[in-house]
Amino acid sequence: MGSKIKFQSPTGMHDILPELFPYYKKVEKVSEKIADFYDFRRVETPILENAEIFKKGTGFSSDIVLKQMYSLRTKGGDFLTLRPEGTPSIVRAYLENGFESLPKPINLWHFGPFFRYERPQAGRFRQFYQVGFESLGSSDPIVDIIIIQIFLNLLKEIGFKNLIIEINSIGDFQCRPHYKRALTSYFRSYLKDLCPDCRERFDRNPLRILDCKNEKCQEIIASAPQTLDFLCKECHDHFKKVLEFLDYLEIPYELNPHLVRGLDYYTKTVFEIFIKKQEKKSKERIEEDEQDEQVGALVGGGRYDSLVRVLGGKDTPACGGALGVERVIEILKKTSKIGKTETKAGEIFLAQIGESAKRESLKILEEFRKAKIKHVGQALSKDSLTAQFKIADKLNVKYVLILGQKELLNKEIILREMKTGKQKTIPLKKVVKEVIKVLKKEK
Ligand code: HAM
Repeated sequence: MGSKIKFQSPTGMHDILPELFPYYKKVEKVSEKIADFYDFRRVETPILENAEIFKKGTGFSSDIVLKQMYSLRTKGGDFLTLRPEGTPSIVRAYLENGFESLPKPINLWHFGPFFRYERPQAGRFRQFYQVGFESLGSSDPIVDIIIIQIFLNLLKEIGFKNLIIEINSIGDFQCRPHYKRALTSYFRSYLKDLCPDCRERFDRNPLRILDCKNEKCQEIIASAPQTLDFLCKECHDHFKKVLEFLDYLEIPYELNPHLVRGLDYYTKTVFEIFIKKQEKKSKERIEEDEQDEQVGALVGGGRYDSLVRVLGGKDTPACGGALGVERVIEILKKTSKIGKTETKAGEIFLAQIGESAKRESLKILEEFRKAKIKHVGQALSKDSLTAQFKIADKLNVKYVLILGQKELLNKEIILREMKTGKQKTIPLKKVVKEVIKVLKKEK
């Protein structure tokens, strides 16, 4: 029995091991391509932000602010929070870096880790990556569609099919108070049947009850008033146009009249993207799909026309969304072999015998690197030639260079073709040139 591991990564946080890295790289690369196409420029904001921007931005009544923030007091007395989401940080950066005075819209995207103190479960971690796209400065409903298109295209390019958008409008600060009043009076008659969390939500913000996943609460929510019946003319017209664009582009969507999303800054359009449930499927597919569905929304987003003002800027409409990278990878892993194909076999391996040959090998490696050879396998920490050849075999290399004491004295090196076992001796100072020549011949 091995001894018990003394330290583990914090609950809900994971090492990204080499096998998984190509998946992250893939999501990042496809995001970059999509961003370039739609003219979004990349920004990265600090992992820590002043806690106030999330309290004011994400909102005092959101679960994120109430329960999920990792916050700390610095030695200098600042109260900082590990960013639980990206939108308030982007708005802070927009205001701080003079974007307000530039022609609109300002289109920004980001890729990085976020932190929420949540109960870890399928698709829910305490550290996770998001790709976010934010467009600031336009109230046109076409921007809502571009944001949705961006995420759909991103997922499709990564390899997803069968996607469905759930969409709703939650109105604005003109019409939402009417809706809130209707919700309050509806939930009041069910107060004793709601879960303890929802009873608290009732006092703070009855809209948050609509996010509750508790089965009993869900039954009550099913007959609750719907936002769409309370929209003012402006919000109604905006939403109508968004739906018309979706129809025109033949993008599949479902109206979810109780989708409000758990963050306080949303106005008008809110949306989430899921894997669509298949109607006819085998038992295996049912199980696989159920696992995929448990992962939850792959993307969430919406319009936030008041956030810039709330964080100290001018009235600036905006719209955006974020994709959960781990959720996407969880599903991608089952269907794609990205990890395996990316560990490409090497072409060349440098083996050495003896102290001075080992030392000289360091120089030879540098020469190859300067000549822009992508990879030269080596096991410089090993002394035995057999051990080095075992590693070369594993790497499946085509050629091995062998430098021993004798070769070093003669200023030579052996080049051995692995498949045929044929070998020749070449002058040490021409080693890079010779290797490039034989590799070129192969192509
Ligand atoms: P969100 O819905 O909280 O929105 O997160 C967006 C996506 O991040 C989710 O759909 C999910 O895929 C992923 N996600 C969220 N929490 C976790 C978690 N604990 N573990 C793993 N994945 C998670 C936002 O964050 C908004 N800032 C989106 C936005 C941008 N709205 C407008 N602009």
